[in-house]
Amino acid sequence: MGKKVTVVGAGFYGSTTAQRLAEYDIFETVVLTDIIDGKPAGLALDMNQSRPIEGFETKIVGATTGPNGEGYEAIEGSDVVVVTAGLPRKPGMSRMDLLEVNAKIVRQVAENIAKYAPNAVVIVVSNPVDEMTALAQLATQFPKNRVFGQAGVLDTARFTNSIAETLAVPVKSVKALTLGSHGDTMVPVPSRCTVDGKPLSDLLPADKIEELVVRTRNGGAEVVALLKTGSAYYAPSAAAARMAKAVVEDSGAVLPVCAWVDGEYGISGVYLGVEAQIGAEGIKKVVEDKLTDTELAGLKEAAEAVRAKQADVANL
Ligand code: APR
Repeated sequence: MGKKVTVVGAGFYGSTTAQRLAEYDIFETVVLTDIIDGKPAGLALDMNQSRPIEGFETKIVGATTGPNGEGYEAIEGSDVVVVTAGLPRKPGMSRMDLLEVNAKIVRQVAENIAKYAPNAVVIVVSNPVDEMTALAQLATQFPKNRVFGQAGVLDTARFTNSIAETLAVPVKSVKALTLGSHGDTMVPVPSRCTVDGKPLSDLLPADKIEELVVRTRNGGAEVVALLKTGSAYYAPSAAAARMAKAVVEDSGAVLPVCAWVDGEYGISGVYLGVEAQIGAEGIKKVVEDKLTDTELAGLKEAAEAVRAKQADVANL
């Protein structure tokens, strides 16, 4: 049977994700939903009209949903649901400032996903993503492997892009990695960064690497400060779409994602940015690799920071 993916939230992040997913031409249907009357249907019509030019057959369906689950029939049978509903940051805001308002939105969305697409894999991108992922799992009551969040693919791409620009090399020659939270306790992992197989530390002095680490951690804020309204969506949607693709293709790709950690790195009982193997069931397994002592300490610190906040979301 043809594959179906839903994107909840037809704002900048959601509509770009839907477009990327449709252009892969691997789904039968991409459903785009929002609470704004007509917006998802209008965007879907517009995207469908691009099919003859871009040459893809995937049909995009737009659906407006109501506060009591009206319209959610459209998501029935989805293999994957990407949750982008919620407010973005404004300049000067941290992702954590969105916690309360987005928790209400994500809880309501997650409850409807559980009702209308009970077998879906859920990929959360709404911010603060580590907390919203934990909340989506709570509200859906789905197994933890079937709910995960997008952060590491994006943060890694930002790190990779900065390294490539700094060294004036093609992005494809760079391998980089970020773990931890999608926020202040993000853990860019220089020890896992190479350029054409050479360790980054052979190519750049420590203070320059640290500069790139700091820029990666502030990558989202840097875009927000320039845009002034709204936050990044081109690189974020590329990341979320790749993750959804890995699920429907059951690819087994190892990607840095916000996954439930249960003993890996000596950390348990928290959603945290780690590398994981992705497949049809969501997270196949968390993949543990070597970190330096400093990086491991950073990851543990991130775990404790998000653990405290994730406990709070149960009451939001
Ligand atoms: N169900 C569906 N859609 C909703 C709901 C809901 N309950 N509540 C709000 N939305 C929709 C809004 O109507 C809006 O169209 O979510 C969309 C959000 O779009 P934008 O404001 O353009 O924000 P965007 O840039 O897409 O970011 C969405 O992703 O990166 C994160 O921090 C970002 O939390 C934010 C989310």
